[in-house]
Amino acid sequence: SEDFRGAFLKTLLIRSEGAIGFGRLLLIGLGKRPDMTCDRFRQAMGRGASSVQKLGIDSLSIFCEHQILEQIRPHDLAQTVVEGTLLGLYRFDRFKTKPSDQKPIRECTLITPDEKCVAELKEGALRGKVIADGVHFVRDLCNTPSNFVTPTYLAEEAKKLEAQEGVRVEILERADIERLGMGAFLAVAQGTAEPPKFIIIEYKGRAKKSMGRPIAVIGKSVTFDSGGISLKPSEKMEQMKYDMSGGATVLGMMQVISRLKLPMDVVALLPATDNMPSGTAVHPGDVVTTLSGKTVEVINTDAEGRLLLADALACAVQRYKPTAMIDLATLTGACVVALGQHAIGIMGNNRPLILNVATAGEATGERTWELPLWEDYFKQIEGDVADLKNVGGRAAGTITAGLFLKQFVGETPWVHFDIAGTSWFNDGAHPYIPKGSTGIGMRLLVQYLTTLAERKKR
Ligand code: BES
Ligand code: MN
Ligand code: ZN
Repeated sequence: SEDFRGAFLKTLLIRSEGAIGFGRLLLIGLGKRPDMTCDRFRQAMGRGASSVQKLGIDSLSIFCEHQILEQIRPHDLAQTVVEGTLLGLYRFDRFKTKPSDQKPIRECTLITPDEKCVAELKEGALRGKVIADGVHFVRDLCNTPSNFVTPTYLAEEAKKLEAQEGVRVEILERADIERLGMGAFLAVAQGTAEPPKFIIIEYKGRAKKSMGRPIAVIGKSVTFDSGGISLKPSEKMEQMKYDMSGGATVLGMMQVISRLKLPMDVVALLPATDNMPSGTAVHPGDVVTTLSGKTVEVINTDAEGRLLLADALACAVQRYKPTAMIDLATLTGACVVALGQHAIGIMGNNRPLILNVATAGEATGERTWELPLWEDYFKQIEGDVADLKNVGGRAAGTITAGLFLKQFVGETPWVHFDIAGTSWFNDGAHPYIPKGSTGIGMRLLVQYLTTLAERKKR
């Protein structure tokens, strides 16, 4: 009727006055049927859950009718319902000394009219819970400031993953990093008193004794990016605690795939350090030798992400010969300018890999948009005194950063995610993403790897 026509995300609360077994019924608009997608459904669930919480109600039931989306399996429906609900309820309150006056939701029940679906719904719901917990873990890490989340803290979080079957963690200290010759990573880390860590997490999910050629996932883990000697302006500098979002996302993904026992081998690499100005900091103009042997002139110490990623990518290639390599990084302000907060910038050297991650992102509502890595851009990063320089000027800043990384992957199929614009939201207007860290990319990676594992099985 007039007051409620099911417009997307519109809600209407009805008091049942005893007519049904529930005191109140909350209707949530799903919009027009042709516009319906899995992610819009997830958004509706997020909006619904936070509306219920705002009413001060601590228990809710959700009616799961799988005809709601054409061709959705009950399993996927339950997963979507649980993800949307839990992601929408996320709050970051670690540093609040007074408890919030909003009661937390105590229980959530899924109801189905079709008894045959119960087992499958249960399975999907449990999977949704593991995934949502993973996203919350990522959000917590990114929202927590850098006087807590140091490289050492990240290493400790990584170590905790060893409680999961098949997970082995190795932490390389400054001396190890020096011995190995990661000159680019060290250049970033030489300005900070905080000990850097190069974190390696191996997950062996196949039944085989030894690790096969794994998928490698690399996450930029700059625990605070002040810019170094090329100091950033002070406005919004506090946000640079989230410059370890890539690494946090990779940690979350490792937690989730090990809990879900995905039958594949995956290795994660996190080069973790602060980027600080000091008497020992790298100077603009310094030349460093990367692990790959290529030399780089550090024109701008604020372009630190590509430096530590260069060594992490080369390390992954040398040590593991991965079948595919994915890196995630809050790499460029230019990506925020190009795509804003609605798409992850992706670039790579392998068409099928790019297509597959993009498809995974469509499914999880974490959309990607590809930028070209044409060789024509190379002259912007060609070095004058060294092989490369670490900045390519203002034009196409996201692409020249991606092209810089490409110099360190060799022939390995690789895709780079620039999450600078998507991993932090300032407004809190999204139904299942509150203000602050979004945790973007984690669900996409899990989706991509799950699909890959299923395809291998067949
Ligand atoms: N971490 C920043 C990128 C960034 C900027 C992320 C804004 C999120 C929001 C990165 O290390 C950086 O400083 N990049 C520079 C590169 C430039 C010096 C070529 C940038 O984008 O300004
Ligand atoms: Mn920077
Ligand atoms: Zn940075």
